[in-house]
Amino acid sequence: MIDGKKVLFSGMQATGNLTLGNYLGALKNWLTLSDEYECFYSVVDMHSITIRQNPAELRKRARNLLTLYIAAGLDPKKNCIYYQSHVSGHAELSWILSCFTYMGELNRMTQFKDKAAKHADNINAGLFTYPVLMAADILLYQADVVPVGVDQMQHLELTRNVAERFNNIYGDVFTVPEAYVGKVGAKIMSLQDPSRKMSKSDENPNASIYLMDDPDTIMRKFKRAVTDSEGCIRYSDAQPGIKNLLDIYCACTGKTPQEAEKEFDGKGYGELKPAVGEAVISVLKPLQEEVARLSGDKAYIDSIIKENAEKANYYASKTLRKVQKKVGFPEKIR
Ligand code: TYM
Repeated sequence: MIDGKKVLFSGMQATGNLTLGNYLGALKNWLTLSDEYECFYSVVDMHSITIRQNPAELRKRARNLLTLYIAAGLDPKKNCIYYQSHVSGHAELSWILSCFTYMGELNRMTQFKDKAAKHADNINAGLFTYPVLMAADILLYQADVVPVGVDQMQHLELTRNVAERFNNIYGDVFTVPEAYVGKVGAKIMSLQDPSRKMSKSDENPNASIYLMDDPDTIMRKFKRAVTDSEGCIRYSDAQPGIKNLLDIYCACTGKTPQEAEKEFDGKGYGELKPAVGEAVISVLKPLQEEVARLSGDKAYIDSIIKENAEKANYYASKTLRKVQKKVGFPEKIR
């Protein structure tokens, strides 16, 4: 609790081009929750270097991502929007938690297996212990709730297990967090293969809508989206391509799948696809304009970065000091 409010933590990696999946699965829910909770939204740049990055590019992407959080409507005076690497407590707590996490647990993480297969030439220890750093992110702020897409649920479960294990030994140190998964948009699928999630690391650019895609590109990608030969528009697992398009449509318009089914009853895919494209454009266009406007205001963004790093450090140090004491580190002499 901070000032009588429950705490929310979430983050995104500044790696690759953010997709519509990141927006609908995570960022959009952050907005709806931000009044109710005391929120920490991190640009998790430390996670990004588990895959080799171009330094200048990473710096640029990290700043763009931080700007995007604000452009999406998160008020940086109320919400703590900051870079993970500006708060050393993340790394410090991560080390301690790694001594309370089993190799077997980390070995089971599907994201590790996927990334290790994809980057076989660089299976570094950071890639393996990535979920421990993620647990540290969350537990450092005593978060009650963590809004994420479905793909992060396994990491959340691990975080809860580590927190409970630690609490069982040392007493009530950590708040055990709950995942928050939105009703629509929690798993946006690839437009080219609806059995796979839409991912920023997909090699086929037609598979993903990037948040910075222009309207023509968005429309073209939707028109090429893989569907099926059923010819009818139903929200059903038997039609994964159509279901994904309806999910996107509903997440962008606020309609329910039943309302959308009714709206497209008797219509063909040739009508559905551009309608979904229009719905997405109407969400992304204002977002892109706001990113462009804010990016021009360097002094403002810099001031946000400075203020929020201080705020995040303040809360992080509180937890860290408590944890250090519990595990038996000697007190600092001041
Ligand atoms: P990342 O950067 O891969 O994704 C950011 C958020 O977007 C969600 N997401 C999706 N949701 C729906 N459909 C999709 N196709 C889709 N693709 C991505 C993710 O679930 C996520 O919520 N490890 C995390 C970042 C992280 C984090 C944390 C998150 C680090 N520490 C602490 C929460 C709490 C990641 O790589 O997300």
